[in-house]
Amino acid sequence: MKILVTGTAGFIGFHLARRLLAEGHEVAGIDAMVPYYDVALKQRRHAILGESPNFRPYVLNLADMPATEAVFAAERPEMVFHLAAQAGVRYALEHPESYVQSNVVGSFNLLELVRRYPVRHLMLASTSSAYGANTKMPFQEQDPAVTPLTIYAATKTASELMAHAYSHLWNQPVTAFRFFTVYGPWGRPDMAPWKFTDAITHGRTMDIYNNGNMRRDFTFVDDLVEGILRLSAAVPVQGQPVGACDTLSPAAPFRLVNIGLGEPVQLLDFIAEIERCVGRPAVRNYMPMQPGEVTDTFADTTLLHALTGFRPKVRVDEGVAAFVRWYRAYHAA
Ligand SMILES: NC(=O)c1ccc[n+]([C@@H]2O[C@H](COP(=O)([O-])OP(=O)(O)OC[C@H]3O[C@@H](n4cnc5c(N)ncnc54)[C@H](O)[C@@H]3O)[C@@H](O)[C@H]2O)c1
Repeated sequence: MKILVTGTAGFIGFHLARRLLAEGHEVAGIDAMVPYYDVALKQRRHAILGESPNFRPYVLNLADMPATEAVFAAERPEMVFHLAAQAGVRYALEHPESYVQSNVVGSFNLLELVRRYPVRHLMLASTSSAYGANTKMPFQEQDPAVTPLTIYAATKTASELMAHAYSHLWNQPVTAFRFFTVYGPWGRPDMAPWKFTDAITHGRTMDIYNNGNMRRDFTFVDDLVEGILRLSAAVPVQGQPVGACDTLSPAAPFRLVNIGLGEPVQLLDFIAEIERCVGRPAVRNYMPMQPGEVTDTFADTTLLHALTGFRPKVRVDEGVAAFVRWYRAYHAA
């Protein structure tokens, strides 16, 4: 199948595209190589994808409508996975405009192009941050998502809402999936698993927010990709919900699905796992809570399971070991 993936030089887009290529699909990949973190890492990811003759990279910004339209016209994709975004919770405090540009303008352009070049299924990445200040655990897709705590969360929720409107107006099947703290090889240097591994490896002091009193539903990237791929086959059909847990819209072929492990882990236990794998103790600097952070994330995966028969399964000990192995090999190369 001809597939368009946005954000292919990014962590998750890279893994997804690699898996799609391995399964024999043709993948066009859009990425702007945004210098939010090390662009050399993004280029290495694209170079690996480029080993396949079925990968066609397009380095452009989704905010550039004519350039993005040219890709749709040339590629005529049958399916689109939209993962490109300005991510990161803390960066949003200082650079809110980049979130509006990538996540609102970029996502709007993509929706408009999917309207002009309809696809079998549009898959849209969203985030557990959409649950904002919710305290009811686990987070269920039917819970209201109206209390975003950062501009990141607000712009990702905006893209969900815009996608619903387009799905309704143009009868375009859309699945928006909310991820929960994804980690693994080729991960993101701005995220805690990489930062902690780096600090522990080099004996540097590391900041631990809210005195470590946080729980995260850490999701291993291979599980996430499996969940996304299975969901891509579960095309939403208006009027055909899979059960009471379904979020299928009454007004559109649109649904929202969590993809998370469904087993939150204490941050300090996660750090202990990294210490075990690296073989050194962390030098800790306990800090207060950061603005915009939430203390807990916890995915209800009932709907994911009902739609796909799949639940993420990689436990933190296994996932951290895989990440630390990769981190060492990456830095040794
Ligand atoms: N990693 C996580 O834990 C996590 C959790 C929840 C949601 N998500 C979502 O998953 C998706 C992928 O995240 P990731 O962790 O791979 O992030 P990432 O930053 O590694 O990848 C995103 C990629 O998108 C590209 N990009 C950004 N704005 C663009 C634009 N306007 N045009 C073209 N390319 C652009 C960036 O250059 C980057 O390579 C995002 O939508 C993110 O919001 C990630």
